[in-house]
Amino acid sequence: MPKKKGDIKVVAGGIGASAPERPIKKTNQLLKGFKDILPDEQKYWQHVFKSVEKVAQQYRYLKIDSPILEETSLFVRTVGKETDIVSKEMYTFTDAGGDLVSLRPEATASIARAYIEHGMMSLPQPVKLYYVGPMFRRENPQSGRFRQFYQFGFEVLGGAGPVIDAQNILVAYNICVDLGFKPDAFTVQINSIGCQNCRGEYKKELVNFYKAKRKFLCGDCKKRLIRNPLRLLDCKVEGCRAIRRDAPQILDWLDDECKAHFMGVLEFLDALEVSYVLNPHLVRGLDYYTRTVFELWMSQKEDASQNSLGSGGRYDALVESLGGPPTPACGFAFGIERLVQLMKLQEVKVKDKKSPDIFIAQIGQQAKIRAMKLFEMLRNEGILAYEAFSKDSLKTQLELANKLQVKYAIIIGQKEVLDGTVLVRDMEAGIQEIINYEKVASDVKKKLSSA
Ligand code: HAM
Repeated sequence: MPKKKGDIKVVAGGIGASAPERPIKKTNQLLKGFKDILPDEQKYWQHVFKSVEKVAQQYRYLKIDSPILEETSLFVRTVGKETDIVSKEMYTFTDAGGDLVSLRPEATASIARAYIEHGMMSLPQPVKLYYVGPMFRRENPQSGRFRQFYQFGFEVLGGAGPVIDAQNILVAYNICVDLGFKPDAFTVQINSIGCQNCRGEYKKELVNFYKAKRKFLCGDCKKRLIRNPLRLLDCKVEGCRAIRRDAPQILDWLDDECKAHFMGVLEFLDALEVSYVLNPHLVRGLDYYTRTVFELWMSQKEDASQNSLGSGGRYDALVESLGGPPTPACGFAFGIERLVQLMKLQEVKVKDKKSPDIFIAQIGQQAKIRAMKLFEMLRNEGILAYEAFSKDSLKTQLELANKLQVKYAIIIGQKEVLDGTVLVRDMEAGIQEIINYEKVASDVKKKLSSA
């Protein structure tokens, strides 16, 4: 395998892992942690896409699409080498040209890269962008956790004030409301993790506190103590949670500027009547955050913290860490699978696409041709119809029309082809009438509008 200067040693499945050889299976199945989104579920997804687009337009965010595949180093430098996402969960491989690349585990780093690469710093600031698309993390699959999952995200780059953080949280909140969730269905959890300066001091204090209790910590937390001490605060193991109760809180360590910023965010949220829960243990699993961090949790779920609907925060140093100018920024992303799960749980009313009221049935080769032409004629007139052109039996076609609960079936047989007519059958009343083929569109339109 060709090695390039400055290569980072990350391989498929995380640092140091290698793919075991497996026998080829006779049948193919979905990969573990992956999901087909079947037609039945699409209405929920469309509902999310529409809400996202609507709210993005209301707040003047512009759409951006970035590639699914990026240089691995992009995520190592931003999300962080020691994070679970980068060290264990990325799908990473060397491509045929020898480049080390990864399927994106998130999109904020890509947006920052695009901001620099396309000179967006010369646009009026802040630049407000949004995106929708699949992300990949090789996590342990469980409820609400997939290896390919979809996110939509909103990012504001080039804005420093607390008003940006507050408006971001408001946008996230309003998307949930627009989707049809009741305001008490979710909570906004918020914290500040300060800047590099205050966090450094706090981390020392935190490590001292946990070191004294090292023997009571779980295996992961023993590693976190050395590699990523902030993550000690969101361990889900009961013993570690009990220890956390007495842990020093970062809010007590914020410097004056970070404190003033956080108070500013809370003031805006109070004024906008967005309720929130101050959560001193919220730290987030990506390294690029500074100051404000927040998550939206489902209120009803016991393990809500493991299944946040959406999350985000400020990342003032990210663009600079990628070689761009100092660019304060803030954003958030939601997992769409989890939103869909909550929509179903809460029985949120979602509009389905209107189904056709017409079925076109045919008997015989010439009638089939005429029926196909009629389908096109109606389509051009904006009239939707079902058909079953691969079927020959009229009985089968009418049974299907019944199942589909259409109002009218248009029937074309050999006689109708010769006469230049069609039969229009009112499916409920069982009455049939003969209509001139040329007049079908206008007649059907009239019938449907008066039905
Ligand atoms: P994140 O917390 O890693 O943040 O992911 C954001 C959301 O994606 C989560 O709240 C969750 O709903 C969803 N999510 C994450 N992992 C999975 C998974 N394995 N299966 C299903 N859903 C999942 C970020 O990705 C940041 N880029 C957010 C951000 C944007 N921060 C600033 N701007």
